[in-house]
Parts: sequence; structure tokens; C-alpha cells
Amino acid sequence: MVSTNYLVIGSGIAGLTFAVKIAEKFPDRTVTIITKANEDESNTKYAQGGVAVVLDDEKDSFKKHVNDTLIAGDGLCDEDVVKMVVRDGPKRLQELLLWGANFDTDSDGEFDLGKEGGHSEYRIVHYKDITGYEIERALLKKVHQLKNVALWSHHFAIDLITKHHVKDPNAKENACYGAYVFDQKKGAIFTIKADSTLLAAGGIGKVYGHTTNPVIATGDGVAMAYRAKVKVTDMEFIQFHPTALYDARGDQSSFLISEAVRGMGAYLRNKNGQRFMLDYDERAELASRDIVSQSIDSELKKTGDTHVYLDCTHLDMDEFKKHFPNIYKKCKQNHINVETDWIPVVPASHYLCGGVQVDKDGKTSMDNLFACGECSRTGLHGANRLASNSLLEALVYAHNIFKYHANHTYETLELKIPEWNDEGTSVPREHVIIQHNLKQLQALMRDYVGIVRSNDRLEMAIKHLELIRAEVETFYKLAKISTSLCELRNMINVAHLIINQSIARTENKGGFYKLDNVKEKGAKL
Ligand code: FAD
Ligand code: SIN
Repeated sequence: MVSTNYLVIGSGIAGLTFAVKIAEKFPDRTVTIITKANEDESNTKYAQGGVAVVLDDEKDSFKKHVNDTLIAGDGLCDEDVVKMVVRDGPKRLQELLLWGANFDTDSDGEFDLGKEGGHSEYRIVHYKDITGYEIERALLKKVHQLKNVALWSHHFAIDLITKHHVKDPNAKENACYGAYVFDQKKGAIFTIKADSTLLAAGGIGKVYGHTTNPVIATGDGVAMAYRAKVKVTDMEFIQFHPTALYDARGDQSSFLISEAVRGMGAYLRNKNGQRFMLDYDERAELASRDIVSQSIDSELKKTGDTHVYLDCTHLDMDEFKKHFPNIYKKCKQNHINVETDWIPVVPASHYLCGGVQVDKDGKTSMDNLFACGECSRTGLHGANRLASNSLLEALVYAHNIFKYHANHTYETLELKIPEWNDEGTSVPREHVIIQHNLKQLQALMRDYVGIVRSNDRLEMAIKHLELIRAEVETFYKLAKISTSLCELRNMINVAHLIINQSIARTENKGGFYKLDNVKEKGAKL
């Protein structure tokens, strides 16, 4: 068993930012970060557009950013949270700069601010079209300079340790004592006992096979919390990004064409060349992304096509290549010349607006357990996240959680935590059960729980999901732990939450659209 003061699960922007702050404040305490793949693998690494933050005092204001966030969230944001996050944004960005992250500036040395859907002003700081890669690089460099931080890659958190596992009379009923962790290289499971545990395990994109997220986004943090009976809310609000590069193979992680490209003036066209967004919203291509994704979905259903197009051919190509070198390169690799060809695009699952419910200090409904970043539900996004508000949210909440810890002491309990019990399990001879059920799950979520939902399809989804769940649980009881098996189990839990919370929602809001809730005549779809 390993003991640590602070256990951080995940090495994206949320986990690393908290780790840096707490380790610097308490050099005599230990911070242990575990992460299930290479240390930099995360949604953070792939963030393109940037960080939304108010820096231009003349044109922009906190009020405008707050307003844009509230409009995107469609009445379901927590206004106090929105105000706090927007107000604290510039301070948190300043810290990132001090830690060595670079952002593009113009010839006057001012930040080169971009614009994205739903934003009324230019306010996105970015580093070319690889902002997340740059932030992750800077944070990892900083973490490696801190002697009291241990960062263990290829370590997979299986489950949170709670009273249920500890069975010690001194253990509190509703508290977290660390996690059971699978060392993926050694194939061994061990216990990390922690005074405080931070879930920073990121998104759920892979629950839908077709996603902008990398393969690590399997909702492990949300699922672990759910199994520990921690409050998880707003799971019906899955954000679909309108413009993932179309890939005929279907259920794959697919490359994102940043919303900032539309911010620069690119048009969405159907195959007949029509700028169909003008029929759906007066902001056209720069409507918030729930509206753009739903409009594309409607257009595809009308035409029977598999994708629409993003037309950049009228844009200044020198500017384009300067701002979006990676997108330009990626298109070229896919035999698309952005200067002359339209880019084939289709919506893909992108972001989880809900998650583990937290208060302003990042506290969950369980003692000693905090959540930050995409796996958390803070109230900032409401029914739909405004573009580039996610990196901002992670920075602000990592700081709040740090502040809370700086002002509170934790008692280190001498609890006896039993080792992980895998008696009666053996290494499975074949993995087809995992692969088969994963494909079934992703097809189910794509076909029955997509952009436009209905109670009939959701009810069918519950029945199918139960068959998948039962088969996988039987397998889990007999098989030695593997990452793919745990991830599948987690994705089943996440799917369960999305489906049930979708059934429960009786009003369409933001990114959530259910046919049963359409009462008015002349509804959009
Ligand atoms: P992540 O960065 O995903 O980190 C999660 C970490 O947890 C990873 O290290 C992962 O390996 C680890 N982990 C997961 N499960 C386990 C487990 N069981 N055990 C151990 N470790 C585990 N947002 C913006 O604001 N602006 C943008 O421009 C932007 N662009 C985006 C572009 C793309 C393609 C994508 C996919 C997302 C984008 N987003 C953007 C969203 C944003 O990047 C993410 O919401 C944010 O980075 C999430 O940070 P995080 O630290 O919460 O999670
Ligand atoms: C993008 O660059 O389009 C992604 C921005 C985001 O998800 O906030």
C-alpha cells in the first residue's frame, strides 16, 4: 500500500494545475498523480481553439462573456458560478503564462484573440491551433520540477476506496480514502491511501464511438463516482461538436476542425453548395454549437447524406496557414487541399457538460473527494458549454480546490484497507466479449442516444444496455482486471446515466433535444 496526502487521478489541465499549486504550497506533503496512458495523453492535449478570457477592456467586458455563457447554457447555468469563473479567468491565465505556456501575440505584442460560436467578441487566447498541446507541455514541465510530486503514467484507477471497502469502524460512512490502482505494465493491483482525492479523469467521448476525444475518454471518473454513490448530474447534456473531419470508417476518434475556423469566416455548405445555416439561425455558422450540430443533423436527415462541408476557399490562406497549421497539414494528409476543396465534416460527440456534481470549492457529495475539469459538473455550462470555456473552468476550479485545501487540514486516519480481492478470477482466454460489447454499446449510443432523442428509442436503449451490462458483469466477476474491461464497465455506467437522465428531462434545452418534448408548432427539426 502507498500512502499520500493528495491523490490526483488524471494528468490533463485539471489534475496538473491542482498538483502544481498544492505541491508548491506544501513542500513537505506528497502529491501523487496517476494517469492511465502516457503522461500527456488527455483531452487537454488536443484542445485547439483556446481559452476564453476577457482581456480587451475596450471592446469586451466580463458582462459580455457572462452573457454569452448564459445564452449558450440556455437558462440552466448557475449565474454566480458563471460570474466567478469569468471574473477569475484573467488571473488564472496569468499563472499559466508564468509557468511558461505560450500564446500567440500580434505585431504589437498584444494577444491575438480568436472568436468562436456563441461569443459576441474576440476573446479566445490560443497557441496556433494546438493550444492544449502547449498548455499540457508547460504544466508537465512544471510538475516535473517539483520534488514532492510523483507522476505515475500507465496507472489506472479502478475504484474509489470508501467505507464499503474498508470495513473499519473508524471509517466514516460517506468518505473517500483513496483508490485501487492497476499498474498496467506490471499487471498488479495496489492500494493508494490518500487524505484527499481529486477526480480529474476527463470526458466520456468514447461512449459514442465517433468522437473528437482520444481513446482515453471513457468516463472512468464519472463511473467510479457513480459506483461510490456520489452525486452525478446533467448527464443528458452531451455536446456534439459540429465539425469533426468526416471519416467513412464511422465509430472512430476523429480529427477536429476547430470552431475558430468558422470564427475566421468559413461557411458550412450542403453538397449542393447551399449555406444552409442561414435557414436555421441569424448568426449562421457562428450560432452556438448545439444549434449548429442540430442543424447539420437535420440537414443530413433531409438529404440522406453522410456529411456536409466546411468551405474555407474564400479565406486569406496565408492567415489560415498561420493560425491553423495543424488543421492545414492534417487535411493535406487526407488529400484535402483547403485552398480549393471543401472539407467534409460531420458532428461528433465532444464534451460532457454534466458529471460529478461539485460546489464552488470543487467538493463532491462525498467527504475528501473533489472533482475538477470535464468529469465535474460545476453549473458553468448549463445545457450547453460555450466554446473554449472548458480549459478556463478547469483552471479556475483547480485554483478553488487548492484554496480550499490550503485553508483546511485533514486528519490522516490509521485505517486498515484490505488489498484488492481477485480470488476466483483468471486471465481470460479471449477478448472477443469485450470488443463485441464495446461495439454494441457504441452503436446503441450512436443510434438511440444521439443528437436527437426520443423516449421510445431511449426505452429500447435501456433494454439493450441491460443485456450488455449483464454479459460484461458476468465476465468481470471471473476475469482478471484489464484496462479495456474496466473501461467498458465504466462506459456502460456512463451510458446508463446518460439514458436515464435523458428520459427524466421533459424540456428541451441547449444541447438536449428530445422529440417528445416538442410541443410548439414549427419546431426547428
Ligand atoms: P483531460 O485533459 O481529458 O485529462 C484526463 C486525464 O485523466 C487523462 O490524463 C487521462 O489519461 C486520465 N484518466 C482517465 N481515466 C483514468 C483512470 N481510470 N485512471 C487514471 N487516469 C485516468 N476546451 C476549451 O476550452 N478550448 C478548446 O479549444 C478545446 N478544444 C478541444 C478540442 C478537442 C479535440 C477536444 C477533445 C476537446 C477540446 N476542448 C476544448 C475540451 C477540453 O480540452 C477538455 O474539456 C479539457 O481539456 C479537459 O481537461 P481535464 O483535465 O478535465 O481532462
Ligand atoms: C474548437 O476548437 O472548436 C474546440 C473548442 C472547444 O471545444 O471549446
